[in-house]
Amino acid sequence: MARIIGGLTSSHVPAIGGAIAKGLQQQPYWKPFFDGFLPVHRWLDEVKPDVAVVFYNDHGLNFFLDKMPTFAVGAAAEYRNADEGWGLPTLPPFRGEPDLSWHLIEHLVEQEFDITTCQEMLVDHAFALPLKLFWPEGVPVATVPIAINTVQFPLPSARRCFALGKAVGDAIRSWDSDQRVVVIGTGGLSHQLDGQRAGFINKPFDQAFMRSLVDDPEWATRFSIHELVEKAGTQGVELLMWLATRAAVGGRVRQVHANYHIPISNTAAGMMALEAL
Ligand code: DHB
Ligand code: FE
Repeated sequence: MARIIGGLTSSHVPAIGGAIAKGLQQQPYWKPFFDGFLPVHRWLDEVKPDVAVVFYNDHGLNFFLDKMPTFAVGAAAEYRNADEGWGLPTLPPFRGEPDLSWHLIEHLVEQEFDITTCQEMLVDHAFALPLKLFWPEGVPVATVPIAINTVQFPLPSARRCFALGKAVGDAIRSWDSDQRVVVIGTGGLSHQLDGQRAGFINKPFDQAFMRSLVDDPEWATRFSIHELVEKAGTQGVELLMWLATRAAVGGRVRQVHANYHIPISNTAAGMMALEAL
């Protein structure tokens, strides 16, 4: 059966794509952010995952406000990156793993998750940039995207996203394959791009959330969506992707590395690498 080797989480601020394209990784503004990934590159070289299951939120590229699935799972042989309006150079297509996609879809529906199945799926900065950050030399893993709606209300609760993650983890572990799977969650941490609180960042909350992912993974499920928006900002609610990732990994974890840096654009930028024990 397939094995989950761990979980990776990262912010996905679009400006990262511009910084990579312009080679700004060593500039004082960007260095504390990009340096956070170096220990994770070494860990990935050691553990060598074959497949990445990626929880992310689409920002109006593959889904728009007229059709917005709460949960959507990709089932394509390839996922093309496109730019929904930031002016970012696109990255090469990502390889899919349809056998795992369909296994996940069958398991999730059987577990009563009413998901949308996507045999074609464009992926935006939230999918592409974290993969580029984890594998700057080229993405060696096959991928399965899972989109969670965090852009148009009503959003799925933290408890529901945790349950989804747990079901995804169970499905991966029951996949008849000897492949090694890493689960990735992108977005967050605290940020708010619009309204009176634009620029809002909440460092104590972010740090408590990051700590909880190591040894109290269900901690964030106590909060309603409105409480999460209040604490983390309208877009900071993307931390739901981190929560689903941690739920999928399950059990106990070792923190390989974590980084937290304020600000990147309007966002408190965080990343974590957690090894399954
Ligand atoms: C920013 C952050 C995001 O998560 C996003 O999707 C778009 C923009 C930002 O901080 O600029
Ligand atoms: Fe975002």
